[in-house]
Amino acid sequence: MGIAKILNFDVISDNRGSLISLEQHKQIPFAVKRVYYLFDNKPNHPRGFHAHRFLKQVIVCVSGRCKFIIDNGFEREEIILNSPSHGLLIDRFLWREMHEFSEETVIMVLADGNYEEADYVRSYKDFKKLALAAVDNK
Ligand code: TYD
Repeated sequence: MGIAKILNFDVISDNRGSLISLEQHKQIPFAVKRVYYLFDNKPNHPRGFHAHRFLKQVIVCVSGRCKFIIDNGFEREEIILNSPSHGLLIDRFLWREMHEFSEETVIMVLADGNYEEADYVRSYKDFKKLALAAVDNK
């Protein structure tokens, strides 16, 4: 099993086009408290480079393409998001990086909490130390 989980959303299509509906506790496995999106992304300007102490997120690449790196402190995996019908579920305490945006990329993020800077771990060194401590305490 991978570190991050891919959710497959049902697409409702007819001759007018396609629609995807995301509801909390249904397609999204938590209560959604915040939605934000990233746009005007630049191919050579990666983003992310942090983990969250408690926040859970589902990330949808609504348009374009982006490469995610997800890291649990011991292993890392690369995931290409390029479809509005896939969601990347990132549980708490996973390091994430976003690379190689295409110009038209729009990333929508559904989160189970409000924005709180204190929930961020922005240093990989600190993240690694906390990940090791969590295993030692098990
Ligand atoms: P940040 O989460 O660091 O961006 P990324 O991980 O995509 O590189 O957020 C960038 C800035 O935006 C930072 O100053 C915090 C601010 N911000 C908010 O005010 N509210 C939010 O919901 C988010 C996600 C960020």
